[in-house]
Amino acid sequence: MKTIFVTGGAGYIGSHTVLLLLESGYRVKIYDNLSNSHLEAVKRIERLSGKSVEFIEGDIRDTDRVANALQGSSAVIHFAGVKAVGESVSNPLKYYDNNVLGTIELLKAMKQSEVKKMIFSSSASIYGNPQYLPIDEQHPINPTNPYGRSKFMLEQILRDIYDTNRGYSFGILRYFNPIGAHPSGEIGEDPQGIPNNLLPFITQVASGKLDKLRVFGNDYDTPDGTGVRDYIHVMDLAEGHLRMLEKLDDNSFDIYNLGTGRGYSVLQIIKTFEKVNGINIPYEIVSRRAGDVPVSYADVSKAQKELGWRAKRGLEDMCKDAWRWQLKNPKGYRSSM
Ligand SMILES: NC(=O)c1ccc[n+]([C@@H]2O[C@H](COP(=O)([O-])OP(=O)(O)OC[C@H]3O[C@@H](n4cnc5c(N)ncnc54)[C@H](O)[C@@H]3O)[C@@H](O)[C@H]2O)c1
Repeated sequence: MKTIFVTGGAGYIGSHTVLLLLESGYRVKIYDNLSNSHLEAVKRIERLSGKSVEFIEGDIRDTDRVANALQGSSAVIHFAGVKAVGESVSNPLKYYDNNVLGTIELLKAMKQSEVKKMIFSSSASIYGNPQYLPIDEQHPINPTNPYGRSKFMLEQILRDIYDTNRGYSFGILRYFNPIGAHPSGEIGEDPQGIPNNLLPFITQVASGKLDKLRVFGNDYDTPDGTGVRDYIHVMDLAEGHLRMLEKLDDNSFDIYNLGTGRGYSVLQIIKTFEKVNGINIPYEIVSRRAGDVPVSYADVSKAQKELGWRAKRGLEDMCKDAWRWQLKNPKGYRSSM
């Protein structure tokens, strides 16, 4: 049985992927410093899967600790990182330190332990302002903030390692906008403080934790004036990692967009959430947010063709599952403490 080493595996996307890995017969080691997650997520993954997970609390910048923990693993799925675009603008060093330096230390540890396969969480934010739609993997790269730049720097670092060392295999997955939760409502996204992303914001308004949603701009050149994004159910995203893992061989470098290929506006999300959950979401239109692009959605044909993967869940599932998670866990994972 293969052991997969999952950095950031207690986090939002990591926890859903770990669950699928266990259900698919892999052994999993989670390595996470819990800076943006809770041990409770790991306990719930174990409960849902009926299997145990080895959890190692540690920082990816601690090379020796990672190298030790990596022993016996056949591949790394690397989710660990910080991800708030706004914070990356005000505190770029945190992003270059945690994401870029952290991944370099992880790569050194992989070299020491002779683990040569990695799936890396990249982001659609590296494309910057779309020059054409849908965005395919050949689209020019032009990140507009330090977070996006940290991801692109890492893609380049991985490419350089691949080009100069035989036997490495990298799968780079550029996620669009993951939302939703496991249908059980047991694991989901648990942001600290005021959420940066739309769906957690909506669910917190729906539950009365926040009084209204702020919609940034209704004067974009889109059908209803609000921003359009490619939202993907986190379970579909998790399945994409499994397909990628199956494809990693002893010498490969692949990049795939993971999205649905469809764009939805902020108002469409609000309306769908209200309809499927029978809840009213009060909102106000405020001015555009600096750095937001009007429209972004993926061309996902490469992942469909080469990974045999496509997103199966629709917007209604995303909204229902996100709300079930919020209802069952009004204070996120702290609800069960
Ligand atoms: N959620 C999104 O919208 C999105 C979109 C595109 C890409 N990504 C990328 O996907 C990955 C996972 O995102 P997520 O939404 O699950 O985020 P998350 O914050 O829920 O998960 C990240 C996990 O990494 C851990 N971590 C952070 N820094 C660490 C370090 N130095 N050492 C060890 N552990 C560390 C955190 O404690 C957390 O459990 C990130 O790399 C993120 O940049 C996310």
